[in-house]
Amino acid sequence: MKSIFVAGTDTDVGKTYITAGLAVALRKIHVDVGVMKPFAAGAAQKKGYKSEDVEILTRAAQTSDPENLVNPQFFPIPASPYTAWKNLKTKPKVSTILSSFKKLSKLHEMILVEGMGGIMTPILKDYYITNLIKEMKIPTVIVTRSKIGTVNHTIMTIKMCEKYKIPVKGIIINDFDDDGYPVKNLKRDLENLTGVKVLGSIPFIKDMSDASLNRIFKKNIDLNTLLK
Ligand SMILES: Nc1ncnc2c1ncn2[C@@H]1O[C@H](COP(=O)(O)OP(=O)(O)O)[C@@H](O)[C@H]1O
Ligand SMILES: [Mg+2]
Repeated sequence: MKSIFVAGTDTDVGKTYITAGLAVALRKIHVDVGVMKPFAAGAAQKKGYKSEDVEILTRAAQTSDPENLVNPQFFPIPASPYTAWKNLKTKPKVSTILSSFKKLSKLHEMILVEGMGGIMTPILKDYYITNLIKEMKIPTVIVTRSKIGTVNHTIMTIKMCEKYKIPVKGIIINDFDDDGYPVKNLKRDLENLTGVKVLGSIPFIKDMSDASLNRIFKKNIDLNTLLK
């Protein structure tokens, strides 16, 4: 079973929520799924994992893998790895990310890897999230929102994946904005314009419990295509 890189059209589009929901839904159909957040950034939590994203992801997947594998590098400022490096003088360790991913892959059937920001978030000079995905040798799923502007962001993201020869398994529309496009129209247009399948759309999630996430993701996402 192939691992999947959950990329987004931007930061705050819902990569963490979608990855968590997928982890729950896959676990419920008996896939041994692990999670990874190669680089995380922001204010460190006082308890548990430093990254709140990692906390949400591991709770959803119900894994207890060591933090140095799940999140090999944490920057305590909200910035890209590149900017964090320049500001804090801590260089992003790509080789550590790749070796941690390899180790984690041996512990589970598949890993859901949450990206950072958008697809061109810089890690090093001339080395972006796209380069990392390419080196991990896994396909990607693109999380996009439904708000006006999303068509532009989604096309740019998919064009970049094409440029870097990253297979795109599908798009997931995170329909949590109340002023977004009607999902039916957005799905039609994104599929026609990009040739990539929309695997489903997720409404506003009120309840992050296991049962709620499983119900929402099982109902709304084409998990079979995701696993193919
Ligand atoms: N489907 C959703 N339902 C409700 N709130 C959501 C949903 N998706 C995202 N959010 C909100 O948006 C914020 C950003 O989502 P998150 O998954 O952390 O984005 P990303 O990982 O892409 O930065 C979350 O903290 C949450 O408040
Ligand atoms: Mg996140």
